[in-house]
Amino acid sequence: MFKACPLSQLVPGEALRLDTSPPIAVFHTEEGELFAIDDTCTHQDASLADGWVEGCEVECPLHASRFDLRTGAVDAPPAKLPVRTHGVSVVDGDIMITESGEVPNLPPGLTIDGHR
Ligand code: FES
Repeated sequence: MFKACPLSQLVPGEALRLDTSPPIAVFHTEEGELFAIDDTCTHQDASLADGWVEGCEVECPLHASRFDLRTGAVDAPPAKLPVRTHGVSVVDGDIMITESGEVPNLPPGLTIDGHR
C-alpha cells in the first residue's frame, strides 16, 4: 500500500495519473467515489486519466472504448482487454493505493517499465 495524494487535492470530477510502473489512474467521481485502475489503455498508449468519466466508466481519449472503473472491464473495441483495478482507501486524509498483483494488459509495444 502506498500514498497517492491527500484526498483534499483530488476534488470530485478529477483524475490523477500516478508515476508508477505501469502508471495508475486515480479517479474521484462526481458522486464522491474513489477508484484506481491502470492508466494506460489496453489498445494503445493513451492515458485514461485524460479520459472522460461518466458514472462509473471512463472513456479512452483516443478511440472511445469505455472501461468500468469498478471492474476494469471494457465495453467495446478497439480495446479488447480489461485494465487492472487497484484497491483504494483513505487513511488519515490520504488516498492510499493497494496495487493489484495481477499482470497488467499493456498495449502492444509497451513493457512493464514503460519502455518500448
Ligand atoms: S487507445 Fe484507447 S481505445 Fe484506442
